[in-house]
Amino acid sequence: MAKIGKTEARDRIEFLKKELERHNRNYYVLNAPTISDFEFDLLMSELQGLERMFPEFATEDSPTRHVGSDLAGKGSDFVQVPHRYPMLSLGNTYAREELYEFDARIRKTADKPYTYSCELKFDGTAICLTYRGGRLLRALTRGDGTKGDDVTRNVVHIPAIPRVLRGEAIPEEFEIRGEIYMPWDAFERLNAARAEAELEPFANPRNAASGSLKLQNPEEMRTRGLDCVLYHLLGENLPFKTHTEALEAARSWGLPVSEYSRVAGNIEEAVAYIDEWDTRRKQLPFATDGIVIKVNELDLQRQLGFTAKTPRWATAWKFKPEQALTPLLSVDYQVGRTGAVTPVANLEPVLLSGTVVKRASLHNKDQMDLLDIHLGDYVYVEKGGEIIPKITGVELSKRPADARRPEFPTCCPDCGTPLVRDPDEARHYCPNRESCPVQIKGRFVHFAGRKAMDILAGEATIEALYAKGWIRTLPDLYALTREQLISLEGWQEKSADNFLASLDASRRVPFGRVLYALGIRHIGEQTAKMLARQFGSIDALAAASREDLLQVEDIGETVADSILAYFASDAGRDTVRRLREAGLQMAEDADARQQLSDTLAGKTLVISGNFSISREAMKALIEAHGGKNAGSVSGKTAWLLAGEKAGPEKLKKAEKLGIPVISEAEFRKLIETGA
Ligand code: IVH
Repeated sequence: MAKIGKTEARDRIEFLKKELERHNRNYYVLNAPTISDFEFDLLMSELQGLERMFPEFATEDSPTRHVGSDLAGKGSDFVQVPHRYPMLSLGNTYAREELYEFDARIRKTADKPYTYSCELKFDGTAICLTYRGGRLLRALTRGDGTKGDDVTRNVVHIPAIPRVLRGEAIPEEFEIRGEIYMPWDAFERLNAARAEAELEPFANPRNAASGSLKLQNPEEMRTRGLDCVLYHLLGENLPFKTHTEALEAARSWGLPVSEYSRVAGNIEEAVAYIDEWDTRRKQLPFATDGIVIKVNELDLQRQLGFTAKTPRWATAWKFKPEQALTPLLSVDYQVGRTGAVTPVANLEPVLLSGTVVKRASLHNKDQMDLLDIHLGDYVYVEKGGEIIPKITGVELSKRPADARRPEFPTCCPDCGTPLVRDPDEARHYCPNRESCPVQIKGRFVHFAGRKAMDILAGEATIEALYAKGWIRTLPDLYALTREQLISLEGWQEKSADNFLASLDASRRVPFGRVLYALGIRHIGEQTAKMLARQFGSIDALAAASREDLLQVEDIGETVADSILAYFASDAGRDTVRRLREAGLQMAEDADARQQLSDTLAGKTLVISGNFSISREAMKALIEAHGGKNAGSVSGKTAWLLAGEKAGPEKLKKAEKLGIPVISEAEFRKLIETGA
């Protein structure tokens, strides 16, 4: 490290501490990192170096001494629970020599031969599971390392995690730690759905997994396709001599343990494992960010112990992200169906991780300013797992003398209307919702889509119908005649009839999909389904207040305001009215309301107090199991379901009438087991 003065060192340490804390928060709490892991690790190792040189400036609260916290923080309804054993991080390295140094340190302590367990470093989010009496008791996130968020209610929806163990010699109580991760295919599906709902895509599968774990609506967990791998067994007086023996036992109890691990007899064999997986990992169906090497013998692990933040018996080899450097040729500005303008970079084609990359998203104007991107610049492109790759930096040393900044348009590239910028969002929008051609056509393409109304009309048909001036607002589709269709170039009677039949069939599409098809900003497929279930009809949804909407699980202010704006607009109300006249489903079929069981059939429940889910969601859960909700306790009440801070009046009345009072846990047991 270059020579550095004391004052300068102190300033730099302060700066690095703040930066690293900020990035920790972006990564662990917001699930939206703004720098790569590699850049983060570089900052961290610079801080470590400076703190070693100037120990007088190394404070207890430095990010070098504690793990980044993923605690959900204020407003979250996850309960924080202390970890029985601290949940640590791993030391990491990108340099070969450091692996040999790691081995040399271990050799110094070891008084007999030892081996290494070599494992893939799964790029997900850490989880700690406790099993007692062979049953899953609790699942905690890493949190700040000493306490984690209790995410049991979400984790039970991950199919890989058994609730009950089978097999022999299962310890009465133990903890097993591992990683919850999202395989590539599930990640791509999720991001495609988010893109359609114009929600910011997750930057990588890790953020998607950790965001999913903190979902307020456990039901939605099931749709996310999460998986789990477990790699660290802990407990009192466990009978195992090696780490691999412990994991094999865990596997025999039905727990998911990696099939890719291997025992290495020495550090050279461990390095060979690293080299092998540096290429093989690209074929894996999930993301890995390195290799973990652990001393396999548990007595030697105990002898080596821990530093404040990491075990001395394990280290992580991190893979460098694959990058390519290529010139930026031009920037296109694409207008989406909701008017959002996205800058897209056109690149000199370049090979990256096996595919040719020609285009990359620049996300928004802020991102372009942050990168200080110029036309003609050589830019670094990375594939973080996004559908399109992203530009992560600019090689300033290669900037041509005459390079200039691309100009972000001030008017819509399609209709010329001046763009507006939402103060809360980084995106620019074309506000001309009613007559901007791209937006209109985009709305029809969305409306006709397979997951929406499933009408036989792709982009070309929409384009042709639009060009004729026959379609401007969605209900116009239902006024199209056979004669009009046959007159279109390339259309015959058969194609016209097929189209009309699909239009007719769309009248039976369930309300949830109709709601999605309307293309209300931020209402994706899942959100639409949930709103349909919660409100039951378009009239109920249109009448909902902001408070009503915010009561619903997973509906935040952005979505609530978007719904309110839609129903407040003449265009929105008019579309709904005319689509209703065209015969579309504007209410849930009573049968379509999701029925999970009839355990509560004929029973009336009264709820009081706060639960792990909102009161609305709790009522929906009761109905989904065949029960009814009532506002006050009477002789007809089957149970009073009492949450935290349940009303004393209701409790008193239930006691007087001899009505059983049950807790949320008892209620959940009731609906799960039917007993
Ligand atoms: S062992 C005290 N093994 O990587 C031992 N960790 O960067 C702690 N990770 O916090 C962990 N795959 O979340 C271990 N095979 C593996 C792993 C693994 C992924 C994660 C884990 C850890 C982080 C450190």
